[in-house]
Amino acid sequence: MNSAVAAELSVNIGALRLRNPILAASGTFGYGLEFAHLVDLNRLGGFVTKGLSREPIEGAPAPRLYPTASGMLNAVGLQNVGVRAFVAEKLPVLRKFETAVIANVFGYALEDYAEVIRVLEDAEGLTGYELNISCPNVKRGGMQFGSDPVLAFEVVGAARKAAAKRPLWVKLSPLVTDIGLIARAATEAGADALTVANTYPAMALDFRTGKSRLGNPTGGLSGPAIKPITLRLVWETRKAVRTPIIGLGGIETVEDVLEYLAIGASAVQVGTASFTDPRASQQLVEDLQRTLFDVKWFTLNEIRDRFPSENS
Ligand SMILES: Cc1cc2nc3c(=O)[nH]c(=O)nc-3n(C[C@H](O)[C@H](O)[C@H](O)COP(=O)(O)O)c2cc1C
Repeated sequence: MNSAVAAELSVNIGALRLRNPILAASGTFGYGLEFAHLVDLNRLGGFVTKGLSREPIEGAPAPRLYPTASGMLNAVGLQNVGVRAFVAEKLPVLRKFETAVIANVFGYALEDYAEVIRVLEDAEGLTGYELNISCPNVKRGGMQFGSDPVLAFEVVGAARKAAAKRPLWVKLSPLVTDIGLIARAATEAGADALTVANTYPAMALDFRTGKSRLGNPTGGLSGPAIKPITLRLVWETRKAVRTPIIGLGGIETVEDVLEYLAIGASAVQVGTASFTDPRASQQLVEDLQRTLFDVKWFTLNEIRDRFPSENS
């Protein structure tokens, strides 16, 4: 391919400019470093770290993954090294890469989210934050932050106050009646972008033993099975707000990427596909470049918002 006529893949997510619209998704790409010998991190639009909490978490009992038709279930239990070990051990190595590093942040109370961000704010080498609000709020009887607009507003507001330096993305839960309500609440509380969406709570069991196929009774469903459902959520979000959207759910091929962009996402993330092929995200950048070249579209503006929403 003649690079002089290569398509321009860079995208703006609010004030943030990414080299291209393909990022690796949280929980499926470790802290990036584990993939650096297989993937050229500098070719990606960026990647999102495993979810970080105030204290290290050991996670759920095995088995943690179970394959299902067109996807898989996971119950990892948000295992992570804790935010301080991330800053001390992972970030110094990540700094030598020229890729956007987005820290995924979670907690079980407002103060947890704010505290994790405060620790990260003092560190060099991060591009932004992605708030996972699919966690139960222990102080409010376990109700998910992401399923109630008031709770979502509060947690995003608390994080926004702590995140003075960097962009704040909010990753929405798919398990809601009206995702537009949560999207509006997150936007009003200061989100710079919305990541749509997380996994779908689901189950698999062995009828012989009567036990879960996972160490936990339930897990999160991801992979191609969820793509059509999540595409609709992106569309609903697009209709509700003008906030930039990062779409993810079941992306495996360049067509999947283009569908998400056409329905209103500004960028996408690749999750489960990295389990079958660790190079999936980089491969998609190359496929996107080639596909745009073939159809003679030289910017992503040609594809963006092709699918009409009342809001576009
Ligand atoms: C094993 C595994 C671990 C995950 N861990 C996290 C996490 O720590 N934080 C988070 O926000 N999402 C997490 N996710 C959700 C993914 O980032 C993504 O939203 C979901 O898998 C849907 O995308 P996909 O179908 O491309 O995998 C995890 C997903 C998987 C499969």
